[in-house]
Amino acid sequence: MTVQAHMALDYESIFPGSLDRAHRYKLFTGTVIPRPIALVTTLGAQGQVNAAPFSQFIIVAVDPGLLGISIGPDPRGHKDTLVNIQREGEFVINTVPGPLAEIVQRCGEDMPPEVSEIEVTGLGLLPSDVVRTPRVAQSRAQFECRLERIVEVGNGPNHFIIGEVVLVHIGRGLHEDCRVDARRLDPLARIGGRNYSRLGDIIET
Ligand SMILES: Cc1cc2nc3c(=O)[nH]c(=O)nc-3n(C[C@H](O)[C@H](O)[C@H](O)COP(=O)(O)O)c2cc1C
Repeated sequence: MTVQAHMALDYESIFPGSLDRAHRYKLFTGTVIPRPIALVTTLGAQGQVNAAPFSQFIIVAVDPGLLGISIGPDPRGHKDTLVNIQREGEFVINTVPGPLAEIVQRCGEDMPPEVSEIEVTGLGLLPSDVVRTPRVAQSRAQFECRLERIVEVGNGPNHFIIGEVVLVHIGRGLHEDCRVDARRLDPLARIGGRNYSRLGDIIET
């Protein structure tokens, strides 16, 4: 297909300000896809391990290594992940392999702060080396992070959490000289609502 043929598409043009929040959310999260999932572990006030998925997840910088997640408002006040990061100043970003879709969906459900999603879902934990927050054993790569800063954005507001990566754990054999084998990482991605995807074609250019 030529570039010209692509351009023949008939478009609808939508001012985001004309939509209510729920429709804007659906339009944005349905088009900015697929989004890899950060399963974020944090320590609760009583030492319980909290785990929640975040697909608004991005590399912010590599010098130093900074990763970001955007935490939206919560009807209960603040999400446990935000409260825990504010209190502890650290967290772990666990990558999620394809077979964990159901568990990730479960971790994204509302649970009271004292309930550990780890216990409810049967996920395993491994100790971290630099931070106190443990990492998820079923994850194939994990980033131990110290809070770098929190930026409040929008009317929610959203809290954009930037973490400095202090240690990376990656399954042995998953990379060669830091070149990661995407198939073996098998990242789970969100494509809106309860729908997820895994890697399809890999296009070599
Ligand atoms: C796959 C998936 C991705 C999600 N991504 C985000 C996100 O990027 N930002 C956000 O605020 N909530 C996101 N959520 C919703 C949170 O995971 C959910 O509010 C969760 O209950 C928060 O848990 P916590 O209170 O333990 O922090 C996502 C949910 C799912 C299932």
